[in-house]
Amino acid sequence: MALTDNTEHYGIVTRVFHWGIAVLILWQFLSASAHFFFEDTAVEAFFWPTHKPLGVILLALMVLRLLWYFINRTNRPQSVSLLAKLGHITIYLLIVIIPVVALLRQYGSGRTFELFGITVFPGFEGEKIQWMLDLGSDFHGELGWVLLLLIIGHIFMTYVHQKSSTKQNVLSRMWK
Ligand code: HEM
Ligand code: HEM
Repeated sequence: MALTDNTEHYGIVTRVFHWGIAVLILWQFLSASAHFFFEDTAVEAFFWPTHKPLGVILLALMVLRLLWYFINRTNRPQSVSLLAKLGHITIYLLIVIIPVVALLRQYGSGRTFELFGITVFPGFEGEKIQWMLDLGSDFHGELGWVLLLLIIGHIFMTYVHQKSSTKQNVLSRMWK
């Protein structure tokens, strides 16, 4: 199998991005759900500490994946429909917007933000930056749940295309 995509199949790099990010995002939603449904329990204590670091890692991977998407743009399988294409683009954009909005809120709080012992933001004295706090509080979790619904729809549509009378074998482009 080739590293790069072609018009029939996705190559190794796209597949590693797709399935790697799929597993990591599943964990991200486990931690978000633990925070939402099991606040102040052992379940939250187990999952929640990974939420911010993994969220930042997902953002970095997604930026690389987008670069890869543009490099291969003209040489990859055609989307089955305009709706499928728009759905994939929306998923891409949300996995960038959701962590960016959270990072803005983190910055606006004025608190030091460290990851793996490295200072990402040093924090500052004085007034918090209210618009950054509001942006995060109004959109981060909400867009996160929208992304989860889109992903469930995406998995369901793979099944639908697989079973449809036109037999568009989309899974084989990404899996076999
Ligand atoms: C792709 C990456 C991410 C996804 C899909 C995601 C998803 C979510 C979801 C669905 C919630 C709602 C949980 C609830 O309502 O209790 C949430 C909450 C939260 N997330 Fe994330 N998150 C991501 C990245 C990040 C990052 C990078 C940070 C911090 C730097 C962060 C910080 C928080 C915080 C503090 C909350 C609790 C407050 C709130 O509900 O907004 N997240 N996240
Ligand atoms: C069991 C889980 C999943 C299955 C069976 C699955 C299946 C597929 C298949 C078959 C394709 C190729 C579609 C085509 O060629 O038109 C695809 C593409 C895609 N999938 Fe998934 N997927 C899964 C999980 C996810 C998750 C969790 C995400 C988001 C994080 C995601 C995001 C995407 C995106 C953005 C594309 C467009 C192709 C690209 O540019 O990489 N998928 N998926």
